[in-house]
Amino acid sequence: QAEPQHIFILSYFCILGQCCFFTCCLYEYHFIEENKSWSEAQRYCREKYTDLAKVFDMTDMSRLRNSTQNQGEAWIGLNNNTGGNRTWHWSLPGVEYIQNDSSWDQNGRTEPGPGNCGRKRYDNGDKKLAGVSCDHPMWFICYDDKKTLHLIETFINWTEAQSYCRYNYTDLASGLDQVDGEEMKTLFNGRPMSVWMGLFRDSWRWSDGSDFSFRYWDMELFNDEQSNKTCAMTLLNRSGKWSSDECDKKNHFFCYDDNLILIKENKTWEEALYYCRENYNDLVSITNSDKQYWIQEKVKQANSTYVWLGLRYTCTLGFWFWVTDEVVEYKNWDSDGTTDGCDMSGAMNSGSLHKWSKQADNKMFNFICSKK
Ligand SMILES: *[C@@H]1O[C@H](CO)[C@@H](O)[C@H](O)[C@H]1NC(C)=O
Ligand SMILES: *[C@@H]1O[C@H](CO)[C@@H](O)[C@H](O)[C@H]1NC(C)=O
Ligand SMILES: *[C@@H]1O[C@H](CO)[C@@H](O)[C@H](O)[C@H]1NC(C)=O
Ligand SMILES: *[C@@H]1O[C@H](CO)[C@@H](O)[C@H](O)[C@H]1NC(C)=O
Ligand SMILES: *[C@@H]1O[C@H](CO)[C@@H](O)[C@H](O)[C@H]1NC(C)=O
Ligand SMILES: *[C@@H]1O[C@H](CO)[C@@H](O)[C@H](O)[C@H]1NC(C)=O
Ligand SMILES: *[C@@H]1O[C@H](CO)[C@@H](O)[C@H](O)[C@H]1NC(C)=O
Ligand SMILES: *[C@@H]1O[C@H](CO)[C@@H](O)[C@H](O)[C@H]1NC(C)=O
Ligand SMILES: *[C@@H]1O[C@H](CO)[C@@H](O)[C@H](O)[C@H]1NC(C)=O
Ligand SMILES: *[C@@H]1O[C@H](CO)[C@@H](O)[C@H](O)[C@H]1NC(C)=O
Repeated sequence: QAEPQHIFILSYFCILGQCCFFTCCLYEYHFIEENKSWSEAQRYCREKYTDLAKVFDMTDMSRLRNSTQNQGEAWIGLNNNTGGNRTWHWSLPGVEYIQNDSSWDQNGRTEPGPGNCGRKRYDNGDKKLAGVSCDHPMWFICYDDKKTLHLIETFINWTEAQSYCRYNYTDLASGLDQVDGEEMKTLFNGRPMSVWMGLFRDSWRWSDGSDFSFRYWDMELFNDEQSNKTCAMTLLNRSGKWSSDECDKKNHFFCYDDNLILIKENKTWEEALYYCRENYNDLVSITNSDKQYWIQEKVKQANSTYVWLGLRYTCTLGFWFWVTDEVVEYKNWDSDGTTDGCDMSGAMNSGSLHKWSKQADNKMFNFICSKK
């Protein structure tokens, strides 16, 4: 099989040209110095950019703050208009919450406990999660950048435990692989106890439907009882921390502009490549976990089972490459990925886990283009 040369040639232009492919360019924040209600601001952002700003983690928060000199208050794309429908999140940004009833202590209740923070009990036989009130003082489990778990034998409430782990380690233990894993069991050594896990739930949602779990509430100002203050804002003169207010209030606001676009049309891999290069910039490449998380949120909206990426196998040379000419260093293959595959291209699973897999390039899927 002859390798389509044009793919390489076009890729070369990309190196010489102004390929903008750092995390910073996945999306940009725009501070809008006009006074609008939250809904007016949402309409404005959707018309001129992508949507009201969403925030993935602390680095995003820093970028958001750096995008203006203003020191006032500004709307962000988070609101509580869900009628109190609370959903669970893992504390660590990017770990998707997937309900698994067998991890929860339901005790015959339909809901996994009344509280909004997740603890795990270790008692003979009982090794389950439950939702309990966040203000209980409890021991807790942090994990570090080597993914090692640490049991901290200090009694504090959930919010403080989260701060403790984020400051001294990475975060509270997040994801069922950590929470139900073998390493967790060894920490307890048969001692009965209850400990905080990185689980919380709330009824706040992002304007664009993402389920980013990052929250940055200013605990001195934020009161979860003020139920008519259902729109969130950032207080730029308080380190950007968040508070909430009545949505009719007029405020400045932040929009975000997405540099990636999901095309909900089914095309073969090569058609998709040409479509992106003609109309935008290129098929998307994923070179780090931040990009993976950002794209994961996008592919949830796709209506094909896979979504094409700019990932291609060269039969002649025998390796996978990104059509943007970036090296395939970060990888997220499913179990049978990475093997050779002439006439194969890489696609992301739009269902659970969002792993990459090789697919025959004449299959028809949705795809993601980068805009610049
Ligand atoms: C924001 O600005 C501060 C101070 O100039 C800088 O230290 C920080 O790295 C910037 N944050 C980002 C994400 O660029
Ligand atoms: C922050 O700004 C608000 C008005 O936007 C003002 O009421 C408040 O006093 C300021 N706080 C500080 C610490 O400067
Ligand atoms: C609550 O929100 C979740 C996730 O957004 C949704 O799947 C579910 O249908 C909602 N439940 C109700 C009762 O609205
Ligand atoms: C739920 O957890 C159980 C026990 O850890 C596991 O065997 C099962 O495969 C999980 N189910 C799903 C849908 O992940
Ligand atoms: C957690 O403890 C701190 C310090 O004692 C307190 O300020 C905060 O309100 C508590 N949070 C909750 C949710 O109980
Ligand atoms: C970090 O750990 C130390 C004890 O090792 C503790 O005193 C401190 O409060 C922790 N930091 C935070 C932000 O919780
Ligand atoms: C969010 O809305 C629910 C239901 O309307 C309410 O119970 C809760 O107090 C609200 N939270 C905040 C912070 O306003
Ligand atoms: C919201 O609640 C506060 C305090 O309960 C009240 O003063 C205010 O008028 C309410 N605002 C609206 C728009 O209902
Ligand atoms: C897929 O998306 C397209 C464009 O939004 C729409 O026309 C089509 O009906 C969708 N198909 C399915 C199966 O959801
Ligand atoms: C794309 O293909 C999927 C099957 O993989 C199909 O369900 C969907 O309707 C197709 N979408 C469009 C826009 O044709």
